[in-house]
Formats: sequence, structure tokens, C-alpha cells
Amino acid sequence: TEEEQQAHFDALIEADQRIEPRDWMPEKYRKTLIRQISQHAHSEIIGMQPEANWITRAPSLKRKAILIAKVQDEAGHGLYLYSAAQTLGISREEMTDALIEGRARYSSIFNYHTPSWADMGAIGWLVDGAAICNQVPLCRASYGPYGRAMVRICKEESFHQRQGFEILYELSHGTPEQKQMAQESVNRWYWPSLMMFGPSDDASPNSAQSMAWKIKRFSNDELRQRFVGMCVPQFEALGLECPDKDLRYDEETGKWILGEIDWDEFNAILDGRGPANTDRIRNRRDAHEEGAWVREAAVEYARKQRERQRF
Ligand code: 3HC
Repeated sequence: TEEEQQAHFDALIEADQRIEPRDWMPEKYRKTLIRQISQHAHSEIIGMQPEANWITRAPSLKRKAILIAKVQDEAGHGLYLYSAAQTLGISREEMTDALIEGRARYSSIFNYHTPSWADMGAIGWLVDGAAICNQVPLCRASYGPYGRAMVRICKEESFHQRQGFEILYELSHGTPEQKQMAQESVNRWYWPSLMMFGPSDDASPNSAQSMAWKIKRFSNDELRQRFVGMCVPQFEALGLECPDKDLRYDEETGKWILGEIDWDEFNAILDGRGPANTDRIRNRRDAHEEGAWVREAAVEYARKQRERQRF
């Protein structure tokens, strides 16, 4: 009966066991996983655009090669996560259509432009750094395919973060102009990277249920705290200023007190009114339309292969 299936599911979650695609699961569990995993996949795919902007203009062959490798990794992460979402019964076409028709969410962070080379450093260091804070706990998500995808993705993410830090380190220890460019870039990316963790806990409608189902292991604010704590010593190593002038450590509580995050900016981006939302969706839609012939050719080729095997 439904009750027995629900009880079995609850016992698995309680015992910190994995839920696998063939297991019974509550419809709402399935829905929230499709929501989160598809958004995560969309974020990886859209996340290729800000960095792709600098592949043809990288300052050296070494930097160009590293950036190409990183963008290629993001594509792979996206395809990996779409496949994980498909195990829950949604098709790749449905997810792609939702994205190109502007009906799907993806991480707010990719709706900012990348006007300077230093942004490749700030994105690697801050954005992939934040992603690591968020993705390491997701390796233990109760849904098997998602947790296992995260293990593979986290390994590559640490290379992404390292190369970003190295770009900023080179600039901040270079000429005064280079140091200025690195500081300006960090000023532009610091607050948006804090927004990646989502709204504050008291304004997070999905957290309670996601934590009860052991999808989300730590709250949005807890992970934001962890990320800020990681950044502070790295700002010193970089010789760059943290843009949060109100940031201070509360010895009593062992907590970082952050300055005000601009949630109006965050909400505007979620409503599609960010600096680059329209560009990102248009580019994704154009790529989908221009790539249609490749998909048709592949389908036709597979059909002919099957025909041949028949005789
Ligand atoms: N950008 C866009 N939407 C966001 C957001 C953000 N930074 N933060 C929260 N939201 C949305 C949520 O999706 C939710 O809307 P919905 O109900 O319509 O989906 C709403 O704001 C309320 O937020 P909640 O905290 O209630 O939602 P969640 O419990 O889902 O928590 C989350 C939000 C922490 C982002 C969680 O979904 C999550 O951990 N997702 C997986 C990680 C992810 O998507 N990371 C993307 C970063 S980019 C990346 O990893 C690529 C790397 O290579 C750089």
C-alpha cells in the first residue's frame, strides 16, 4: 500500500540511505529533485557563456588552453546533471525547451557580464569556490544519481577554483594597473557570489523540506558563512580588499557578521531583469536552433544503422 511505501521511503531517508531511480518516492520528492537538478544543469550550461567571452582573447596560449578546458568541463557537468534529472522521468527536450523559452531558473551568478580578463580569475576563485562549498555537501544528497554526479563534478571544480585564484594572484602581484583590474573584478563578483547560496534561511521556502529529505545538508546561510570564512585568508594571500567593509568576526558566536546583501538585485535577476539575462537566453536559443541539423543528422544516422542491422 501507499502507506507501506511511504514508511519504507521514510526509513531509508532516516537511515541515511540512497534513494535510487527504481525506488518508490513521494511525488513531491521527485518534483523538487527535478526542479533542483535541472536548474543545476541549466546553470552549468549557461555558465559557459561568461567565460567563453574570453577564450579568443586570453592573454597567453596557456591561459587560453586552461579556459577552454574549464568551459568544456562545465558543458560536461551540465550533460551529466541533465542525465541525472532524466532518471526522474523528465526528458532532455522538456528541460531544454523550458530553458530557451525562459521558463527555467538557472544560477543568478551567470547573468553578469565579463568586461575584463580579471573576471576569469574572479569567476574561477569566487564562483567556483562558492560552487564547491555548495556542491561538496550535495555529494551526500539522498538521491543516488545526484550525489554520485556531484562526486565527479567536485573533483573538476577544484581545478576551476585553483586556476582562478592563480590568475588573480598573478594580476595582484603584477603592475599597479593589473592589481587595480583584479580589485575591480573582485568588487564586481564578490556580492553576486554570496547570492549563489540562495536567499537567507528565513526567506527560503524550499530549505526545510529539502533538509528533511536530506537533499540539502546545510542551510543557505550556513554555507554562505563557510564560503566567507574560506575567502578571508585568501583575500590576504591575494593582497586584495574584501568588498564587504562591514564584515567582522564575532568571537562569541564564532560567526562572520556580513554586510547587507542587495536582495533587490537578487530578486530582479530571478525575475529575468539582470544585466545579461536576455543575452544568455538568446545565445542558448540560437545555439539550439543552429544545432538542430546536427541532432537531425544523428537521429537519421541511428535510424539507418538500425535498418542495416535488420538484414
Ligand atoms: N539563482 C537562481 N535562483 C535561485 C538562487 C540563485 N542563486 N538561489 C535560490 N534560487 C531560487 C530557488 O531555485 C527557489 O526558486 P524555485 O522554488 O522557483 O526553484 C527560490 O530561489 C528560493 O530559494 P530556496 O533557498 O528556497 O531554494 P533551494 O532550496 O532550491 O536552494 C540552491 C537554492 C541553494 C541554489 C539549491 O537549489 C541548490 O543547492 N542547487 C544546486 C546547486 C546549484 O544550482 N548551483 C548553481 C551554481 S553554478 C555551478 O554550480 C556551476 C559551477 O561550475 C560554477
